[in-house]
Amino acid sequence: EVPSALAARAEKLHAEGKPFKVTLFSGASTGDSCDGALARAQAVSLRMPYQSNASLRKSINSGEIKYIDAHLGKMGYLVRTGALPAPTVAIVEVSAILSDGRVCLSTSGGNSVTYLEMAPKIILELNTRLGDAFMGIHDVALPELPPHAKPLPIYGAGDRVGAEFVKIDPNKVIAVVETSRLDEVNPFVEPDEVSTNIGERILDFICFEERKGRLPKGLAFQSGVGKVANAVLSAMSDDARLGQIDLYTEVIQEAVFPLLKKGKLGVASGTALTLSENAQKEFVENSAEWKKHLVLRQQEVSNSPDVIRRVGVISMNTALEADIFGNVNSSLVSGSAMMNGIGGAADFARNCYLGIFLTPSVAKNGAISSIVPYVSHVDQTDHDTMVFVTEQGLADLRGLPAEKRARLIIENCAHPDYREPLTDFLDYSLKH
Ligand code: COA
Repeated sequence: EVPSALAARAEKLHAEGKPFKVTLFSGASTGDSCDGALARAQAVSLRMPYQSNASLRKSINSGEIKYIDAHLGKMGYLVRTGALPAPTVAIVEVSAILSDGRVCLSTSGGNSVTYLEMAPKIILELNTRLGDAFMGIHDVALPELPPHAKPLPIYGAGDRVGAEFVKIDPNKVIAVVETSRLDEVNPFVEPDEVSTNIGERILDFICFEERKGRLPKGLAFQSGVGKVANAVLSAMSDDARLGQIDLYTEVIQEAVFPLLKKGKLGVASGTALTLSENAQKEFVENSAEWKKHLVLRQQEVSNSPDVIRRVGVISMNTALEADIFGNVNSSLVSGSAMMNGIGGAADFARNCYLGIFLTPSVAKNGAISSIVPYVSHVDQTDHDTMVFVTEQGLADLRGLPAEKRARLIIENCAHPDYREPLTDFLDYSLKH
């Protein structure tokens, strides 16, 4: 409600010839009534740390909005340690305000606790549509700051270490705005053939690794954003070989619901629920039962390197392109046009037990190979990647030297149309 009102205010001021722009920090992507409306109103000077909105993306790529694309697990930490300025106003949606002033967050944990603590002014948006659906889901805790910070004792996806509600200073609250809007998330798209194929290959590989004794029972899965990552979760819910699973992830996408409905989800721990309107309504109706399986954390915790290592995570994220040496680009098309951002992929890729990057082997109906000689921008270096999967096949790069990695990626993951030029490049580069 408040960001769209702010966008309308900006438009009015601009029409009067008065400048008005804000810096916008968030947890990650927001709905169109925030990112989209503010971008179209030319009301944003700087955006950080992640977005996925078409209007905002256009303004970033035209240079009108400055964008700092940052690791999601680090954003709150940068604000708490003073490396970034504290927000002047924190606008946070809550699902309940208790009489003693504590609040219950709604569909995301994000960086809300940090912003509520650090900002001198707070605006609460009280969502009256959510009822008590989010009571008991949040685990409100932040890691201690160094030096000598004690670890958060989270050993498994379902462990709770914090409080149900957030304590805020009531004197900082300058407004409470009622709303009944649901989150704006695009409807779930059923996986296509290529994405389903990738999902099945990943499951075959996981079962193979289990048989080889390389994957102990009790690890948790992390699934990245986008349609291919959704397809992997869908494949998991349909696969009879996979028993009940836990997720220790960043965003809990809608594709988790089939797992829940089929009794295949132990616990899903994340920082936000990203659900389409229908799925949100379904969640509110079934929340009494479903929330037993969900934990929402602050993103410094959902993406904490320390916790990810301890829990033991099988991490699955999507690349726009990967190179034959194992470097990954997930954010900048052709090295210059921002798609969404790096998100939390590196928080997981670097610290996971087993890391998988997935991508269709070609983009734009085959006109572009997703496997390239060198990525045009590096989000993940070859030191942090282990396994690549396309609909063509899978390359397990662990323990392989550079040339072997390259030949395996070309052979197993590149589209047949591009294997020869990629091999030519490799052979040429080895000679020179
Ligand atoms: N070159 C040019 N364009 C490419 C491309 C390439 N190599 N690969 C994909 N694209 C285009 C697609 O054609 C599509 O364009 P369109 O929107 O015009 O149709 C767009 O990029 C998105 O690709 P799509 O196949 O629809 O991908 P997706 O929904 O699975 O999302 C990412 C893929 C990489 C954009 C998404 O996963 C992302 O933002 N990742 C970074 C953040 C992250 O990993 N977060 C998880 C951490 S917890």
